Amino acid sequence: MGAGKTTAARAVGLPVVDSDELVEETAGKTIAEIFSDDGEGAFREREADAIVLALGGGAVTSPSVRDALDDALTVWLDVDVDTCWERVRGSDRPLAQDETAFRRLYEERRALYAEVADVVARDVHDVVLAAAGVHVERGALRKLGELLPGDGPVALVSDPHVAGIHGMDAQLSLGARLAQTHELPPGEEAKTLIALDRLWQELRLDRRGTIVALGGGCTTDAAGYAASAYLRGIPWVPVATSLVAQVDAAIGGKTGIDLPQGKNLVGAFHWPARTVIDPALLETLPEAQRREGLSEVVKTGLLAGEPLWELPDDELVRRCAAFKAAVCLRDPRDQGERKMLNLGHTFAHALETAAAYQGITHGRAVALGLLAALRLSGRDTAVVEELLRPSPVKVDRERVWEALLRDKKGALRLVLLGDDGPTWDVEVPAEDVRRELDRLIAS
Ligand SMILES: NC(=O)c1ccc[n+]([C@@H]2O[C@H](COP(=O)([O-])OP(=O)(O)OC[C@H]3O[C@@H](n4cnc5c(N)ncnc54)[C@H](O)[C@@H]3O)[C@@H](O)[C@H]2O)c1
Ligand SMILES: [Zn+2]
Repeated sequence: MGAGKTTAARAVGLPVVDSDELVEETAGKTIAEIFSDDGEGAFREREADAIVLALGGGAVTSPSVRDALDDALTVWLDVDVDTCWERVRGSDRPLAQDETAFRRLYEERRALYAEVADVVARDVHDVVLAAAGVHVERGALRKLGELLPGDGPVALVSDPHVAGIHGMDAQLSLGARLAQTHELPPGEEAKTLIALDRLWQELRLDRRGTIVALGGGCTTDAAGYAASAYLRGIPWVPVATSLVAQVDAAIGGKTGIDLPQGKNLVGAFHWPARTVIDPALLETLPEAQRREGLSEVVKTGLLAGEPLWELPDDELVRRCAAFKAAVCLRDPRDQGERKMLNLGHTFAHALETAAAYQGITHGRAVALGLLAALRLSGRDTAVVEELLRPSPVKVDRERVWEALLRDKKGALRLVLLGDDGPTWDVEVPAEDVRRELDRLIAS
């Protein structure tokens, strides 16, 4: 510190990237604020992840560049030669003047790309997933052992139901690294202090250990939180098995448990060391659970401005996961754009709270919430109505309204969907919110 690094670097006359400035820019706050809000650990994480370098296509022909890539996450964007040629032909790029030479170069360099690549990506969505540490692949469960970072022991945590269906495959693929298996209670019961107390007492891992959470969002939320606090934080890997977990819960590092006073009231941001998503596991998911996830898929598609819900499962999951990963990478601590992921959720949470979480599932509440958010945004609601068929719930109107106001404390700021995409923290007049909320309730 104070040695004059930046000044000296500028004196060299080459482009200079100051990592402190990059960290401040991506965090949206000063280094002093990062230290005081999030601690030095969070700053060091950001510092280590500060740069994404778009490396020229021929750079890997230099051995020194290949060496330097050893310590970086290197992603090979593997696009077919015809597409590449279409994109560059007629440009002034010196090595793209002659098609035959261009194709030869493409073939020559492939071996080098394969040598340096940690991940092979087909498109921008794959690149984002790689940057977030998310691996989406049919059959990934059977490769779990290979996909897991590090080489320390593993504690496998699951719910009894998922353990019965997919536990054996997970155990086999973890092989010799599997040190212990644990079960959390099914459903929301997993997200309680009692369940975590038991898990923490059973765990026998040192700091080299990893917690692998095999299951839906309840398992991943609870086990991820267990990992965030055990020995002051050890790595964890969610293996998402439900649609909710694959498109939402297992991505972005939010972990936590519930209190009697409300859901997700205690938790931590603890980014997974890797997230493993195997869309084939959805084949054993009951239809009702699939519908739960479909509400989040429709939400994601609306935010992305693309009908992601029309895609076949594998692609649907990949695209939804990539969308959430991108938002969370840009705003890991939920201080800006990550808030858009709450589209429809203010209404949903109020309905769930007023019904005391009985008789209305989160998915159904979100379907209704999306309806209200779209109406307030002046948008067509056909997609939500056709896909999610939201039906009004029987709850006490005043209780829902109170729950919504308590949740919002002060001005009613919502996520809305404009023509240019989502906006958040939009102040909406109370009477408009109340009117749309009332339409969601059966008389
Ligand atoms: N952390 C986040 O960012 C985030 C985001 C969204 C939701 N969540 C949380 O996720 C939770 C809901 O997740 P969920 O809906 O996955 O609940 P869940 O974990 O209870 O799973 C739902 C049910 O499906 C079963 N199941 C899961 N995978 C299966 C499979 N492949 N085959 C057969 N059965 C399977 C489970 O045993 C369970 O009975 C909520 O607590 C919510 O708060 C967290
Ligand atoms: Zn949700």
